[in-house]
Amino acid sequence: LTLTIDATKATGKVSPLHYGLMTEEINYSYDGGLYAELVRNRAFLNDPQKPAHWTAVGGANLTLATERPVNDALPKSLKIECATPGAGAANDGYWGFPITPNTTYTATLFARGDVGGLTLTLQSRDGKTVYAQTRLPAVGEGWTKRTATLKTGKATPTTDAVFAITAEKPGTLWLSLVSLFPPTWNNRPNGFRKDLMQLLVDLKPAFLRFPGGNYLEGNTIAERFDWKKTIGPIETRPGHPCPWGYRSTDGMGLLEFLLWCEDMGAEPVLGVYAGYSLRGEFIKPGPELEPYIQDALDEIEYVTGSVSTKWGAQRAKDGHPKPFKLQYVEVGNEDFFDRSGSYDGRFAQFYDAIKAKYPHLKVVSTVGNEQPASKRVKSRKPDALDEHYYRKAADFIRDSPTHFDRYDRTGPEIFVGEWAAHEEVAPWLPPSRNLPATPSMKAALGDAAFMTAMERHADFVTMQCYAPLFVNINPGGRQWRPDLIGYDALKAYGAPSYYALKLFSTSVGDELLKVSLAGAPLLASVTRQSKTGKILVKYVNPGDTPQAVTIQLPGVRSIKPDATVITLAAPPDETNSMEKPTHVAPKTTKLSGVKPEFAYTFPPFSITLLTLEAR
Ligand code: AHR
Repeated sequence: LTLTIDATKATGKVSPLHYGLMTEEINYSYDGGLYAELVRNRAFLNDPQKPAHWTAVGGANLTLATERPVNDALPKSLKIECATPGAGAANDGYWGFPITPNTTYTATLFARGDVGGLTLTLQSRDGKTVYAQTRLPAVGEGWTKRTATLKTGKATPTTDAVFAITAEKPGTLWLSLVSLFPPTWNNRPNGFRKDLMQLLVDLKPAFLRFPGGNYLEGNTIAERFDWKKTIGPIETRPGHPCPWGYRSTDGMGLLEFLLWCEDMGAEPVLGVYAGYSLRGEFIKPGPELEPYIQDALDEIEYVTGSVSTKWGAQRAKDGHPKPFKLQYVEVGNEDFFDRSGSYDGRFAQFYDAIKAKYPHLKVVSTVGNEQPASKRVKSRKPDALDEHYYRKAADFIRDSPTHFDRYDRTGPEIFVGEWAAHEEVAPWLPPSRNLPATPSMKAALGDAAFMTAMERHADFVTMQCYAPLFVNINPGGRQWRPDLIGYDALKAYGAPSYYALKLFSTSVGDELLKVSLAGAPLLASVTRQSKTGKILVKYVNPGDTPQAVTIQLPGVRSIKPDATVITLAAPPDETNSMEKPTHVAPKTTKLSGVKPEFAYTFPPFSITLLTLEAR
């Protein structure tokens, strides 16, 4: 096999936003995931019949109460009738609570009643081990908001814990919005889990597509991501049912998404609700759609407006006076599923309104070239098309050598806003439920093959992001596989696909170099860092035999004899798990004797990054 790299001239510029992340509330990605809140059903709204995830302590009687709510966003409270001192209620968290040594947890709650002081305890499920405890002074007749900290000592890390709130003396206690946070990334109040943020930051994402996905649309119009209900103090956010079968607290609201971007050094790619929800409810184009258009304009103003604008001022009030950078706004999600045939008209109305107020913004259509022409937007020329690819690894491997060759490079930019390889069984088929949530090396090889295709065309494939990003691996925590990062309350790990993505996203140049492969289908991409001259060669060998390749750089007179090689290689069935988090992980080696023509043998089932330095 001969791999030829033309380093004499660049064929294009790599989009600086090429590698990013996509996110939505699915698989307990935020609640029970990135959003560091530890109390599950903190507002007692998850189940209208009973206080789900709360159990009685010391023989207390627990009921849901509606009388004297804290406010409209918190219509329910937990009524705890305590017959003895030490009675109360305990929360079981998102499959337990993460106990780590010497850790300070911050508790906040609303309480009223006649039970004297309250004791807050992080303890083992059987109540025998107390990990951390604190006491709150007595509350009275009216609602009082209280905050306290609990600190663990020399605890052994575990998820075997509950959070108990108990009364000093008999009586009745009402609780509302009970919250407990561990330390968060950058110490942000209402912030994010540190270990998950570290895994994301390590990918160096250039953008974050949010808030969905299906989560943007909701099952019904009433259940869409209604951004205005997701800002301000958490006690004023009512939360809403998410289309993946559970209720979202909306603790991860619009500002939190933006702070998440800021904390990763990424820029937002904002999905705005476009008048269509998953079960087919829609708003027809025309005057009835106007309030939704206005909502989108207001949302853009919240993100980008100066403090002298209405929504920019609201953002400042919420704690972030500085506007955020925004270049792309996506209108809806997967509107090729729109059974009403209204997308062309809805898109046009959003497009015109956004362009009129924000001419510099790029407006993205959710119907790409992979969809039938009849579904695509025709009345306007979108700036970019969002294409989604959930495919078998083998299909990505077969298609990637030529996939983007048939695209019109002068046409709209391509944003591959969701993609992932599965081993064999498609994510939406029931047998996929029996497979591990995170994929194996087999899928990673398909992912890497597709990434070579996207990267070779990274001048007009301006953005791309794997989906879904997160999964809580506990029973009932998953609605979709495969997912990139798995976790429980305490620990997290990346799938082989995570390491494949990291290998690609953290080592990319700003110039595209032409590459061709004689003797096999092309599963490689080459970029160059114009400042350093470094040539980054990514090569995928999905087969079970080594591939001996002659690598030629015609026109290059001299090359540094030492190169760095990063290899992710493992048999297809191998994978990572909570028990073996880095079983499949990249290894770095040095290669010597590199010349403008040299030989390299790529191992079976491997994804390789060769960093060469032309002189
Ligand atoms: O990524 C999972 C789902 O797949 C997304 O919510 C949706 O956009 C797509 O169908």
